[in-house]
Amino acid sequence: MKIIVTGGMGFIGSNFVRYRMNKHPEDEIINVDKITYASNPLNLDLNKSRNHKFVRVDIVDYEKMEQVAKDADCIINFAAESHVDNSISSSEEFIRSNIVGTNTLLKIVREKGIRFHHISTDEVFGSLDLNSNKKFNGNSPYNPRNPYSATKASADFLVKASINTYGVRATISNCTNNYGPYQHPEKLIPKTILNALYRKKIPIYGKGNQIRDWIHVIDHCSAISLIIDKGKIGATYLIGGSEETRNIDIVKKVTQVMNISDDIIEFVSDRPGHDVKYALETSNDLIKLGWKKTIKLEDGLRDTVKHYMENKKHYENYNKWQGEWN
Ligand SMILES: NC(=O)c1ccc[n+]([C@@H]2O[C@H](COP(=O)([O-])OP(=O)(O)OC[C@H]3O[C@@H](n4cnc5c(N)ncnc54)[C@H](O)[C@@H]3O)[C@@H](O)[C@H]2O)c1
Repeated sequence: MKIIVTGGMGFIGSNFVRYRMNKHPEDEIINVDKITYASNPLNLDLNKSRNHKFVRVDIVDYEKMEQVAKDADCIINFAAESHVDNSISSSEEFIRSNIVGTNTLLKIVREKGIRFHHISTDEVFGSLDLNSNKKFNGNSPYNPRNPYSATKASADFLVKASINTYGVRATISNCTNNYGPYQHPEKLIPKTILNALYRKKIPIYGKGNQIRDWIHVIDHCSAISLIIDKGKIGATYLIGGSEETRNIDIVKKVTQVMNISDDIIEFVSDRPGHDVKYALETSNDLIKLGWKKTIKLEDGLRDTVKHYMENKKHYENYNKWQGEWN
């Protein structure tokens, strides 16, 4: 297959490119990324692979995207602005890349009859009560509560509308919080590891009681790979981690792995409108396709800490390294 991966220089996209090239070396991957601050220069290494090609294109740019997509079999859309805090400060780029970008891709796949898979989040369902045992499932209504999740929900609706209105051959997956290698240091787990390494304070919103359902990025990638090979056109698949953990506890687990005292935790003012709990039931249809989570949180965290420690020089100079792209 000739697969276009958008956002393939970011966290999940680059893990997916590595996963897919390893499992299906016969595929050709075209990695389309605009290169925002969130792209990880360590991913430049991907260019050493024979069947991987990187092109710097903004998915909003219809003419360029149409050229890139000309004989593609499939487009997988990871490209997005992904940090909730940034969406609260300013939502314009989120609307542009997450909504307008998805709409541009949908126009192209519709015109060319290309298979499309859209990557989304459990945040579109909103927040559960902290003490509830409920999980979101395929019947849960959308209820996005911050600008990021509102743009992701809008994009999901555009994909669903394109399937229904134009018969676009598309699928969607909504996944819980990912962790693993190549994530931007702005996100909770890499920030915790890197701050702990340098004995800097680890900031935690509020009292850290918010619950997230964590999944190792590789388990997410295996689900996506299965969906593009065997998924039912028109379907939405939910991918849960079954590792519901309070933010304070995830941070403590990391400091334990690193054998560092957790007295460097610092509680800071809570994020406005902070969702208190996400938990997601994996779709039965995904399990029937053969998907299984393979990495337990404790093992995945050890692995993740190792990646950031081995590449600490890179992450230490993260902003400077960004200059490499230009
Ligand atoms: N990180 C998570 O826990 C999580 C969970 C569920 C779903 N998701 C979704 O998965 C996808 C990937 O998330 P991530 O954590 O890897 O994000 P990321 O911020 O690490 O990477 C996003 C990549 O997309 C690129 N990009 C942004 N706008 C673009 C544009 N207009 N054109 C081309 N490229 C553009 C960026 O340069 C970056 O390389 C997103 O759609 C996100 O909503 C993330």
